Amino acid sequence: MCHRTPKSGEQFQKWQASKHADAMKTLATPAAMKIAEARGIKGDPADAPECLKCHQTAYDVPASMLSPRFNKQDGVQCETCHGAGKDYMKMDIMKDPKEAAANGLVLPSVSDGSAEKFCETCHNKMSPNFKGFDFKKMWAEIAHPVPKQ
Ligand code: HEC
Ligand code: HEC
Ligand code: HEC
Repeated sequence: MCHRTPKSGEQFQKWQASKHADAMKTLATPAAMKIAEARGIKGDPADAPECLKCHQTAYDVPASMLSPRFNKQDGVQCETCHGAGKDYMKMDIMKDPKEAAANGLVLPSVSDGSAEKFCETCHNKMSPNFKGFDFKKMWAEIAHPVPKQ
């Protein structure tokens, strides 16, 4: 996998160490149960669309439409931010940015502000724990650039 090597920038490891990778574990905690109860959600927050919509990639896609290797328990995954990878992940497509974009790769940009807007689709007042969103600080926590050669 290309995104695991130091040369490519170890995006996978950085994501795995981030809270996004644990977003489903969080829904299994007593704190999550309490929040769900207070909102009148019956049953397990880890099955509730009201919570999954921000805590799980592809929560509304039936398992039969997903790759067998896709694990919904992995929380907020690459494809939430970069688009469904089925068509762009092939090596010959991925190495050509134009081809990759044409096949569904999304690169929200920090410099033009589109990344910040995108983050705010989840980091907003609808989050039961929202305490504000400082994009610069939050991006610094999860940044995963390709190192300059
Ligand atoms: C699909 C929804 C979603 C999007 C989009 C999203 N996040 Fe998150 N983010 C979450 C959830 C859910 C958590 C909490 C995970 C947990 O603690 O289990 C989180 C947690 C974090 C954290 C850990 C710190 C904290 O307050 O818990 C950082 C940092 C973060 N996000 C940064 C970002 C940035 C930067 C972007 C945009 C580039 C972004 N996120 C986009 C859902 C999202
Ligand atoms: C609009 C998006 C959104 C929705 C809907 C949402 N969450 Fe979250 N959740 C987040 C984000 C983003 C974070 C990280 C904290 C923050 O900065 O808001 C988070 C963090 C959490 C945390 C960790 C709190 C902490 O302080 O570490 C718990 C627990 C949690 N959510 C439970 C739930 C439950 C239960 C539901 C459903 C009732 C839910 N969330 C619905 C976005 C959401
Ligand atoms: C919370 C959203 C989010 C998640 C999750 C996420 N990324 Fe990103 N990623 C971004 C943003 C935003 C940028 C662009 C930042 C910029 O403008 O430089 C980026 C940039 C990248 C780049 C650099 C692209 C370039 O040409 O500079 C790579 C490679 C990448 N991501 C791969 C991954 C992989 C692989 C995963 C999962 C293991 C992942 N990302 C998870 C938001 C995310």
